[in-house]
Amino acid sequence: MATSLIKGLIASGHDAAAIRASDPDPEQLRKIAELGVATAPDNNAQARGADVVILAVKPQVMANVAAGLTDLRPDQLLVSIAAGVPMSSLAGWTRAAQPIVRCMPNTPALLGAGVTALCANARVSPAQKELAQSVLATAGRTLWVSPEDQLDAVTAVSGSGPAYFFYLMEAMIEAGRSLGLSAETAATLTLETARGAALMALEGPSPAQLRANVTSPGGTTQAALEVLEAADCQGIINAAVAAAAERSRELATEFGR
Ligand SMILES: NC(=O)c1ccc[n+]([C@@H]2O[C@H](COP(=O)([O-])OP(=O)(O)OC[C@H]3O[C@@H](n4cnc5c(N)ncnc54)[C@H](OP(=O)(O)O)[C@@H]3O)[C@@H](O)[C@H]2O)c1
Repeated sequence: MATSLIKGLIASGHDAAAIRASDPDPEQLRKIAELGVATAPDNNAQARGADVVILAVKPQVMANVAAGLTDLRPDQLLVSIAAGVPMSSLAGWTRAAQPIVRCMPNTPALLGAGVTALCANARVSPAQKELAQSVLATAGRTLWVSPEDQLDAVTAVSGSGPAYFFYLMEAMIEAGRSLGLSAETAATLTLETARGAALMALEGPSPAQLRANVTSPGGTTQAALEVLEAADCQGIINAAVAAAAERSRELATEFGR
């Protein structure tokens, strides 16, 4: 995620020389240095004096990494992209007065087609909110949520969401194969249909209206939708997304202590 954010920043015109990165792995640093970014293994040294410090490590190591940033000034903005680590924990591990933005990007960020929800603590200034948003905007669309616990729902909808769509794609490809299509034909039809449907839904009207528009009474689409409704597909999706949100809350107690 850090690499894709750095690439996004450079692609959107930021000076690579103004970006610093750290990582304990020399091989990882070598790859990032190829982007023209200054690299070093020492997090604290790299963070020194930066306007914004992005914490892009796994939740399991966040406590150590945050506590190691001993030279932070109170005006330096901390941005965490780690799932499930509350801002109160980050504040406790660094200095309690730190301005903090916690956000939840998703994997399409790798293509600049992600969506990121952000949440700020009370110490973040309007200019710092803009700064955080401009960094994450290089990975796709951004929006703010509040209070912080909405990030559990965000994680369940858009954080884990790409996997739900991949699952549906896999299922449709398999269904096409079982009707006699080749794997390649079923995959092309499914993936292009997913792309087209997403583009139409982004343009509007609502997905519900779009679905109604393509469902003729007594037609093929209605026959399929009746099967989905009889199986309570909405209820199953509600349960799946609720399970992801619950897991996100559990992660906060596991990694936020
Ligand atoms: N991937 C996603 O789609 C996604 C979406 C939303 C949020 N996130 C969040 O983004 C964060 C990063 O995820 P990721 O997928 O990018 O993980 P990742 O590929 O494992 O990247 C984490 C990087 O941090 C490095 N690191 C480990 N310990 C460190 C330390 N003490 N100091 C500095 N760097 C250290 C790791 O190095 P080593 O490999 O050498 O350990 C690795 O290069 C996670 O907290 C995750 O919850 C990810």
